Amino acid sequence: MFDMLVRQPDDPLLALIGLFRKDERPGKIDLGVGVYRDETGATPIFRAVKAAEKALLETQQTKSYIGPEGDAVYLDLLWSLTGGRVAGRAVAGVQTPGGSGALRLAADLLQGMGVKRILLGLPSWPNHASIFKAAGLEIVSYPFFDVPSQTVLFEQMVEALDGANAGDAVLLHASCHNPTGGVLTSQQWQEIAAIIERRGLLPLVDLAYQGFGRGLEEDVTGLRSLLAAVPEALVAISSSKSFGLYRERTGAIFAVAATQALADTARSNLAALARISYSMPPDHGAAVVRGVLESDALKADWMQELDGMRASIQTLRRALAAGLKGRWPSLAAMADQEGMFSLLPLSEEEVLRLRADHGIYMPTSGRINIAGLKTSDVDAVVSKFIAL
Ligand code: LMR
Repeated sequence: MFDMLVRQPDDPLLALIGLFRKDERPGKIDLGVGVYRDETGATPIFRAVKAAEKALLETQQTKSYIGPEGDAVYLDLLWSLTGGRVAGRAVAGVQTPGGSGALRLAADLLQGMGVKRILLGLPSWPNHASIFKAAGLEIVSYPFFDVPSQTVLFEQMVEALDGANAGDAVLLHASCHNPTGGVLTSQQWQEIAAIIERRGLLPLVDLAYQGFGRGLEEDVTGLRSLLAAVPEALVAISSSKSFGLYRERTGAIFAVAATQALADTARSNLAALARISYSMPPDHGAAVVRGVLESDALKADWMQELDGMRASIQTLRRALAAGLKGRWPSLAAMADQEGMFSLLPLSEEEVLRLRADHGIYMPTSGRINIAGLKTSDVDAVVSKFIAL
């Protein structure tokens, strides 16, 4: 009966990993999937992560089941780092297989509680729309970012949120917008929060790059101001980038509510959804994050290493902006954007030409993973872009 199936195309973003690997040209450059690379081109394991893994290897007593909610201590420590304490709000979370697992549980929860539509500013991470559609939600899109001018379309965002129906969900990026790097100011976060509250919308906030924008605290300032202003929210967290645990699939989904009873009910539903999907989350990554955050010394070392990564991305941003603004003046804005990504005003044909002629790999959207670039490659990359 498998002949009933239609062959599915590879995920265009993840397919880049294989295409890049197959390319045998020595000067090839990978600006595709969002992973951090150092000056040698490696994606390092954080020192603190390695130390926590060693400790785990020596001290872990059992591999027995933990349960669909995952590890409560990991969840508490992670929430302190991200959402923090919000006066008058209760929170309950479930550990998930990565940020994608968190988003899928959130989408299934929304569907189960009768939410019909989710507002999505475009462009966004392509998997957002796929996950929400798979869960049966209708996507109401609005323009969030203008690529030629490299500006956040805040007025259009406000208009879309203001025109939403009570009971609609809204997807928001906490910081380090994927794929644009576009930044919302504190004032804009407050305006959005006020509209969400006034119109009775439910925010689902995706936090996947904490520490890669302005700083660990700064990258959650908008999220925290939102949580203080709205009665309920869902927060999907990925530990993939912030702890460099990509393949360990480590994340969490939190429900924030006015009372602990409401938050706990939401959690019981999230756990039930986990049980019928993958039963229980993988443990290793969460146990490592717990080990890092429980130890003052490891936490300090992790923060220091993360600070270094952020600083190097900022240096790369400034160098790229300086090099590219001669051809595209609006790309001067790249220096002030945040996170791993910026979205360049390139056509699909130009992206494919860069790939074929120069071995420069990026998705056809024109997104580049700045964190994947070596300082020593900046001049070569800039000259190839400018020569297009
Ligand atoms: C990305 O956008 O490159 C990352 O979030 C990796 C992924 O899963 O798509």
